[in-house]
Amino acid sequence: MDNRPIGIFDSGLGGLTVFKALREVLPDEDFIYVGDTARVPYGNKSIKKVNEYSSQICSWLVNENCKIIVVACNTVSAIALKTLKENFPVPIIGVIESGVNRAISITKNHKFAVLGTVATIKSDEYGLQIKKQSSKSKVISLACPLFVPLVEEGLTKGDIPTQIIKMYLTDIKNLELDTIILGCTHYPLLKDLIQEFFGDKINLIDSGDAVGYEVKTFISDKNLKTNKKVGSFNCFVTDEPEAFDKHAKKFLKVKLVGTSHIELV
Ligand code: DGL
Repeated sequence: MDNRPIGIFDSGLGGLTVFKALREVLPDEDFIYVGDTARVPYGNKSIKKVNEYSSQICSWLVNENCKIIVVACNTVSAIALKTLKENFPVPIIGVIESGVNRAISITKNHKFAVLGTVATIKSDEYGLQIKKQSSKSKVISLACPLFVPLVEEGLTKGDIPTQIIKMYLTDIKNLELDTIILGCTHYPLLKDLIQEFFGDKINLIDSGDAVGYEVKTFISDKNLKTNKKVGSFNCFVTDEPEAFDKHAKKFLKVKLVGTSHIELV
């Protein structure tokens, strides 16, 4: 039994999709969320910067006495997870492995596409992990950098996102893929439009959603479960809390009360 909170972080707002998935399977747990809204996006930054920023967040979460840290951000999971695991004294779980596990379990023809930020795609972490599990797989990896600002601006429906989806994904539409991994926190908010573009036959995998089950199993196996009845949620951001709360409520239907500002060093 362990009543310490679960830490979760992202470069910004998108990681709330992962928080929602976690809270669904772990409603009794306390969660502390950090969104690095002052420095989002991470997806086009250097490996050095992503390591530096994510280390600062993990230090802060460790100081808040978190029992485990969930890296909601795919970019951090792709390029900094190994270093974070080596440098911090708590278990740290990223989103990539669970997304890959789910994709492998669902595919019929082993033809995948991975969509992500420039940094995630450049790392090829999804491709490597898929091939490790199933060497006959074919994986196409595609960076879709405009999806993040679209979502951050609330443009998740209508003509503008539809056109941008068409621009990025037309070339892979007829490749007989059966499974596409949405390898970025923000992309699940474009899921309906992406599904519409490819049609019902294609499986869309949301890595953040998939990590919920993994975290639940982990804390139960390691005796880290809380004995509280109702969990709490505290949210911290590095830029203005008000804008964050407004966006969270509108697009993710997560009502936040008392989001606080923090400075990371
Ligand atoms: N959270 C990032 C990810 O999942 C997307 C936003 C960013 O580029 O920082 O890769």
